[in-house]
Amino acid sequence: MCGIVGYVGKKEAAPILLDGLRRLEYRGYDSAGISIIENGKIVTVKATGKVVELQNKIGEKKMASKIGIAHTRWATHGKPCDKNSHPHTDCKGNISIVHNGIIENYLELKDQLQKKGHKFTSETDSEVVAHLIEEFSQKPASTRGDDRSSTRGGLDFRGAVLESLKLIKGTYGLAILDRNCPEQMIVARLGSPLLLGVGKDEFIVASDASAIVQYTDKVVYLEDGEMAVVSADNFEVFNVKNKLIKKEISKLDWDIEQAQKNGYAHFMLKETFEQPESIANAMRGRISKTDGMARLGGLRDVEEKLKDINRIIIVSCGTSYNAGLIGEYMLEEYAGIPVEVEYASEFRYRKPLLDKRTAVIAISQSGETADTLAAIREAKNKGALTLGIINTVGSTIARETDAGIYNHAGPEIGVASTKAFTSQLTILTLLTVFLGRQRDMSLVTGKRILSELEKIPKHINEILSGDKEIKKIAKKYANFSDFLYMGRKYNFPIALEGALKIKEISYVHAEGYASGEMKHGPIALIDENFPSLFVAPRDSVYEKNISGMQEIKARSGKIIAIATKGDKEISKHASDVIYIPKTLEMLTPLLAVIPLQLLAYYVGISKGYDVDKPRNLAKSVTVE
Ligand code: M6R
Repeated sequence: MCGIVGYVGKKEAAPILLDGLRRLEYRGYDSAGISIIENGKIVTVKATGKVVELQNKIGEKKMASKIGIAHTRWATHGKPCDKNSHPHTDCKGNISIVHNGIIENYLELKDQLQKKGHKFTSETDSEVVAHLIEEFSQKPASTRGDDRSSTRGGLDFRGAVLESLKLIKGTYGLAILDRNCPEQMIVARLGSPLLLGVGKDEFIVASDASAIVQYTDKVVYLEDGEMAVVSADNFEVFNVKNKLIKKEISKLDWDIEQAQKNGYAHFMLKETFEQPESIANAMRGRISKTDGMARLGGLRDVEEKLKDINRIIIVSCGTSYNAGLIGEYMLEEYAGIPVEVEYASEFRYRKPLLDKRTAVIAISQSGETADTLAAIREAKNKGALTLGIINTVGSTIARETDAGIYNHAGPEIGVASTKAFTSQLTILTLLTVFLGRQRDMSLVTGKRILSELEKIPKHINEILSGDKEIKKIAKKYANFSDFLYMGRKYNFPIALEGALKIKEISYVHAEGYASGEMKHGPIALIDENFPSLFVAPRDSVYEKNISGMQEIKARSGKIIAIATKGDKEISKHASDVIYIPKTLEMLTPLLAVIPLQLLAYYVGISKGYDVDKPRNLAKSVTVE
C-alpha cells in the first residue's frame, strides 16, 4: 500500500525523503509527494506517477529544511492525480499530513468540517485529518484543558493531533507537520505499520524498514494506538489516553545490500535467483538429522500446547495462501492433523468455530497484511493458539501471534512474491516434521524428509541454470492472451501460484485449476489459441495428469509441461517440457514453482512491463 517516510534531524531532509520514497515505491506508485518546513512555511510538491516524476518536478528547487514528510500513494479514495496525492494540508497550509490506511468515517467528518467552513481540495479520505487538526488548533482555549497554544488559542500540536485521532474510525499510519512547531514531527499508528528509525541526532520514520535500513539499524516499533512526538534529539511515545509509554529500541535484522538489486535487472529476478540461499537460510540450524526432528526455537514456549492441538486453520492471502494450501497436504499426510486453509479476508467475516485445541497459523511475507492481521486477532479473541510464519522480523503479525517461525528470506522487494513463497514452503515442511514427530511420524520418515529438504537448494540451482531455455519458451508463448495452469494434489496450488504470477506481472489472463476439474468446465475454452501448462512431475497422480494432457491435445490445445528429469514419455503429450530434478512428492512444489516464476518474469519483460512494480498492485496490502 502507500509508503510513508518522515525525517527530523540535522541533515537536509528532502534528499533523505526522496531516497526513502524510492525504496518504498514498491508499496504503491501511482503518485508521490513531499512536504518540508522552509523559512517558517510548509512547502509541498506532489506529482502523479512514479517517484522520478516528483524528483523532476522538484528539479532545482532548494527545499532547504531539516524536517519533512513524504508519501508514495496507492489510490483507495480518489483517482491518482496531483490533487489527491499526499501530503494533504489544512485550509491555511499550517498542517501537512501523510496517511496510509482508510478513514472509514471520513464522509461524516468531512461534512461536519465543511459546515464549519473548511475547504477541501481532494477526494481523499486522508485530507480530513489535516482539517481536524486545524479545527482543534483553532478551538477557543477555554474549552480545552492544559494543552493550549497561546498563539493560536486552541490546542497545541500534540493536543490537536490527539483529539483528532479520537474522532477517527478506521486505520492509519500518519506523519504530521505543523508550521508552528517547525522542530517537531508527530507520527501515529492504528492498523498500519510505522517504525521509528533512531539515528544520531536524527529520526527517520517509515512504513517499512527498507527506507530506514541505510541510516540506522535501531528501530522503535510503534504499536496500535500509539503516537510519537519526534524532534532531532528526542522522541516521546504516548497512548490514546495521553499516557507516556516507555519503548524499547530493537535491532533490524536487514542490511542495505539485501535491499539492493546487486546487478540484476529487476528485484524479481534477483529474488528468484536467491532462492537456493533463502531456502538454506530458512533451514539453517533447524534440522536435527540424528533424531529426524526440526528444531523450531520460536515454538519452544508453546511446544507442550502443540502436542494437544487437534486442528489447524491456516489464514493468509495471495501467494501466502497458495503456500498454505500446500501446507494442508503436507500436514494432513505426514502429521495427521486436520487442516483448513482460509482466505484471511473471508475468515475475518465468518463466525469461525475455534477452541483451545485449534491452532490458527498466519502465513505472511510482510507480516502486515490487514486481512491476515484481522483474522489472527479474531482467532485470538476466540481462544485459539495463534502462530505466525512470517518473513518480516518485528512486523505486527509477528508480534501479535503467540509464537512463530521466521522465514529468514531477507527483504523481498519485487511485488511478485518469489523467495518468500519457497521459504514459506520450507518452514511448512519443517513444521510438518515437528508436529509429525510429536505424533506418529517415524524416525525414518522424519530423517528422509529432512535429508531431501536439504537437497532442495542444489536442485533449484540446477533449474536456474536452465534459465535460457525457459526464456525461449516464454518468448514462444508471450503473445497468447489466455492460459490454463493445471496441477494435481501437491501441485494444484502450484498451478494457482503459476497463474497468479503470470497474471500479476505480465497482465495475461491465466486460470489456475485442479487438473481433475478441467473437464468440468474449463476444457470448453481449449483450442489452438488457448495453451495449457501442466505441472506433472513423476508422482502419485502422474498418470491422471497424463490423461488430462491427452484430453487437451485431442482438442488441439498446446501444452507446456513441468516434468521430472528423465521422463521421456511426457514429450509425447506436451509441445514444450521444462524438467525439474527428482525429489519427494511433498517437496515437488518447491521445485516446480521456479520455472513458473521465470516464465512469468520473461513474458512480462518481453512485453516491456515494469515487473517489479506491476500496475494496480502494492507489495503489502495494509488496507481492507
Ligand atoms: O505479505 P503477505 O504475504 O501477507 O502478502 C499476501 C499477498 O498480498 C501477496 O502474496 C500477493 O499475492 C503477492 N503479490 C503475490 O505475488
